[in-house]
Amino acid sequence: MAYMGCADGGTSIDMIGGALRYVRERAPSRPLTMTYTDLPRNDFSQVFQIVHGQTDIPAYAADIDNLFVFASGTSFHQRIFPVNSLNFGFSATASHYISERPDPITSHVHMIGAEGAELTAYAEQGRADWERILSCRAAGLVSGGRLVLLNFCRDEEGRYLGGTEGVNMFHTFDRLWREMADDGTITMAEYEATVFPQYYRDVTECSAPLVGQPRLPGRPAARPYRNPRHRLSLPPRLRAAWRPGEVRQGIHPDFAVLERKRVLRRPVERPVARRARRNHRPLLRFLRNLRTRKAGRSRHGLRPHLHGHA
Ligand SMILES: C[S@@+](CC[C@H](N)C(=O)[O-])C[C@H]1O[C@@H](n2cnc3c(N)ncnc32)[C@H](O)[C@@H]1O
Repeated sequence: MAYMGCADGGTSIDMIGGALRYVRERAPSRPLTMTYTDLPRNDFSQVFQIVHGQTDIPAYAADIDNLFVFASGTSFHQRIFPVNSLNFGFSATASHYISERPDPITSHVHMIGAEGAELTAYAEQGRADWERILSCRAAGLVSGGRLVLLNFCRDEEGRYLGGTEGVNMFHTFDRLWREMADDGTITMAEYEATVFPQYYRDVTECSAPLVGQPRLPGRPAARPYRNPRHRLSLPPRLRAAWRPGEVRQGIHPDFAVLERKRVLRRPVERPVARRARRNHRPLLRFLRNLRTRKAGRSRHGLRPHLHGHA
């Protein structure tokens, strides 16, 4: 299991402990690993102190046998785990952080107050980062693995953290910062250069990498995925209709690969096994040739040099 963007691990300590205990009940002897991840500058020492009960926060590590706790200081915009190695990934209130800050937003401190080309640049950065986050996670997850992401977003009515009704947190930040520029405490350049490196995606932007633009030439656009609870996952209807090896229109190729891997691994489906063998034929041929050459034979008999030919 992994927690991406864990900070000091304190907010989630009960939830992670509960999840690990739940697995332990069902798999009494299975070794479990718990990996906390955040940016390299994160205070991971605090994470371990909390998890191992060295603070006044109730901890879980001592109660769960055969549990191994790790940390990774690798950004979630990159691959954190080897291919096919993570069973369950979790992240809360972190994916809105973008990997690079576009040009400054000159009239506000947050993208929710940006306009025109400045807003477009943030939207593009948010889109590219989201696709990359999802494809990095897709690569790390095992077939059948699960990823749960709780994200700060904008809902259909334009609400977001700090901007639901009445007072707006980001407008307040901006007003106070601008007042400091106006009274000379900071320079106007400092005001303009200050911006939260975040992008709050809306529901369409969140679901776009899963179901959105057609990825295959000549295919019609898929209808955007709509789920009243805003969960991001492949709709069961699509999952059930997935044929082995098929790359579905509108699905991000990385997710298609993930889905294909899952289907290919099912041993009972004979057509799948046949297709897998067909796909791997060139590789199998190469390996067979390699074996015969290693055994001192070419495909046409004994190796010439073994008989004294040049
Ligand atoms: C708002 S805090 C949330 C902390 C924790 N998830 C919680 O809910 O209490 C956001 C966390 O995301 C981390 N973060 C931001 N960008 C990140 C990145 N690119 N990779 C990993 N962690 C990141 C920050 O360092 C911070 O710890």
